[in-house]
Amino acid sequence: MKGLAILLLLSSALQSCTAAPPLEPVTCMKNGSAAAARAATHQINENHDHGYKFKLNVIQGHKIQKVFGGCDIDLKLDLLETECHKVHPTHFEDCIIYGEDEREVMANCSVKMTVRNGYAQVTKYECGTRQAKTAREMVTICADCPTMISLTSPKGLKGVQQAVQKFNQNTTNQHYYSLQEVGRMTTGYIMNVGMNYYAQIVLVENSCPMGSTEECYPICPDRAHHAFCRMSYSNARGIRSLECEYFPPSNTDPLQPHQLEPICMDPPPPTP
Ligand SMILES: *[C@@H]1O[C@H](CO)[C@@H](O)[C@H](O)[C@H]1NC(C)=O
Ligand SMILES: *[C@@H]1O[C@H](CO)[C@@H](O)[C@H](O)[C@H]1NC(C)=O
Ligand SMILES: *[C@@H]1O[C@H](CO)[C@@H](O)[C@H](O)[C@H]1NC(C)=O
Repeated sequence: MKGLAILLLLSSALQSCTAAPPLEPVTCMKNGSAAAARAATHQINENHDHGYKFKLNVIQGHKIQKVFGGCDIDLKLDLLETECHKVHPTHFEDCIIYGEDEREVMANCSVKMTVRNGYAQVTKYECGTRQAKTAREMVTICADCPTMISLTSPKGLKGVQQAVQKFNQNTTNQHYYSLQEVGRMTTGYIMNVGMNYYAQIVLVENSCPMGSTEECYPICPDRAHHAFCRMSYSNARGIRSLECEYFPPSNTDPLQPHQLEPICMDPPPPTP
């Protein structure tokens, strides 16, 4: 699992976000830690352009420094990775956290916020991620559980490619789908099957119809259908299972007459 460190300078205001349950106003009062942490977690998820959504676990710190017109807030938060991938429409607070036997990932984040004249903003945050349990702890919890492997494992990716091909044999889909991201990859030994690879993959709808040989582009992220698939693969048996959920586009505004489907460049590469 690739560690992730994010350092971002943010200019977008929290008020402009579209949280399902409304965010409580962030204040400079001592009892405002929950509202601040909630707003910060919301912003971190909004900015996270790949991987899974995170949910607040514990507020480790909340320091307020009064300044003219408001205050500066320093937050220390522990977040846990949920089962909802970024493309999943469910609000992060309603997503389920990975169980112990599924190698949950946690993030510790340092967040700086400003509150001026009642207007709150996240100005900077930095998160480090790690597996909540070490490999050694995992052996004692679940010795037989599949182990996490690199998302670039060649054998695992061979399986992923075959899964994408298989996915595209579904003629009910109007358009071709391409691989957007590999979310998680694990491996485990199964009697009579050998090494088995499990992956969670995200596919994005492309502009060209099924079966077409023309060059395909992913449809813009807000206008594309996405599919989130769990798959398993073994060298000996090929694709053993492929189960997908489809998510509709977030933007369903119809195109104007004669307007072509807009082309979006690939999303920016994940923050190193
Ligand atoms: C915080 O305290 C103030 C006044 O002491 C009160 O009005 C407010 O409702 C409290 N907020 C929370 C979230 O408890
Ligand atoms: C996360 O926790 C580690 C260990 O406690 C610490 O060294 C690191 O600075 C923390 N990272 C952030 C971004 O808070
Ligand atoms: C084929 O695609 C449709 C959506 O286009 C989906 O509802 C259906 O479950 C898919 N079938 C399989 C076997 O994956």
